[in-house]
Amino acid sequence: MKTLQVQRQYSTGLLRPNIEQALIAAGKDLNHIQPADLGAVEDFHTSGRIATGQLAEVAEITSSDEVLDAGSGIGGTARFLADTYGCRVTAVDLTEEYCEAARWLDRLVGLDNRISVHQGDVTDLPFADAGFDVVVSQHVQMNVADKSRLYRQARRVLATGGRLAIWDITDGAPGNLDYPLPWANRPELSHLASADQLRAVIEAAGFTVIHWSDLTEEAAPFMEALLSGPVGPLTLHAFVDNFAEKVSNLAGGLSSGRLRAIQGVAQATT
Ligand SMILES: C[S@@+](CC[C@H](N)C(=O)[O-])C[C@H]1O[C@@H](n2cnc3c(N)ncnc32)[C@H](O)[C@@H]1O
Repeated sequence: MKTLQVQRQYSTGLLRPNIEQALIAAGKDLNHIQPADLGAVEDFHTSGRIATGQLAEVAEITSSDEVLDAGSGIGGTARFLADTYGCRVTAVDLTEEYCEAARWLDRLVGLDNRISVHQGDVTDLPFADAGFDVVVSQHVQMNVADKSRLYRQARRVLATGGRLAIWDITDGAPGNLDYPLPWANRPELSHLASADQLRAVIEAAGFTVIHWSDLTEEAAPFMEALLSGPVGPLTLHAFVDNFAEKVSNLAGGLSSGRLRAIQGVAQATT
């Protein structure tokens, strides 16, 4: 039931045609698309590609890493990692429409030989134990009530010594939140923990936190600037319903401290 609600939060039925239209409106030739051409349309998280690049650096991803992107959306992070580092990436997401778009975009930019996309639940990963060196997860746990199960699954599929790299929104100061938010049109779909609770549940799942950074002070102005800047064709407005309102509510939450933006890396230990 909850699974269906999450899928409904993200599915539109028009994802591929909308992205095709956005690419054409931006002057791209669909027969000759490079990974960089996808621009800001593929990073569905606070601070976009800047955040992905920073997270990959602090996680020290290399070409030899087997990476899992847990909750991969339309696959922007997987393509960025495969293209930048030359590593193999497995992408898993609950929303079938996003998985289909990810496979299509991987083929379009010629990265489908390094990326495989699976429809699945991050709390019940369809992968063998210890098969990955890195699990990346950006802006997914806010939809997941059972965070202990999420991180125990991440720990199970990681080899000992592997890294979990997260970029996530947590609860901050007390107060009301305005909806819709990018991950939840309604409060029932949002499962926010405090940063301390998130860290504790990761540690209890068998990780040692090696990097933990509250980047709210950078993320809030970034999102405020996104709101006030011009809207180009290649942005998340192309396929996310009510995107401007969602960003406005997120930016408001970050600016007031009601929400926090957390970057973390944890090593699989026990
Ligand atoms: C805000 S989007 C972020 C997508 C991607 N990580 C990114 O940063 O571009 C949240 C994603 O989490 C996925 N998701 C939510 N709950 C999930 C679950 N239990 N298992 C797998 N994916 C899930 C949604 O389908 C959606 O694609």
